[in-house]
Amino acid sequence: METITSEKMNELVGAAKIVRENAHAPYSGFKVGAAIIAASGWIYTGCNVENASYGLTICAERSAIARAISSGERQILAIAVVADSPEPAAPCGACRQVLVEFAGDIPVILENLKGRRVIYSLNELMPHRFELKKL
Ligand code: THU
Repeated sequence: METITSEKMNELVGAAKIVRENAHAPYSGFKVGAAIIAASGWIYTGCNVENASYGLTICAERSAIARAISSGERQILAIAVVADSPEPAAPCGACRQVLVEFAGDIPVILENLKGRRVIYSLNELMPHRFELKKL
């Protein structure tokens, strides 16, 4: 697994915790915050944005990734996700597929509000990604 310093991990988790407060989650009541560090060293954050038409909901992870890519980044070095769940919440399948588009075997740092932290490698979470290979 690629790695970042524990200080950077703490910084990412702190940023994810703060942006989580901005989540628009009136339907599920489940607020999520995500923070990404990109190749430039900048940190990009995102929260979940729900919609009355439930299926249009955007997860915190994809919200943060969209911000990073829109800012010109192409390489993600680590991501932190924070939620108020009994165990740290792991990214959904759709977000994993979007992450691997821009990341190698990066640390995926998950933390709940009780401070319980789990770190997975992205390959562990997404071993058989879809790749578009044309004939
Ligand atoms: N959610 C995320 O933001 N990230 C995930 O990886 C899983 C789920 C959001 C979507 C929805 O707003 C709420 O959590 C409940 O599913």
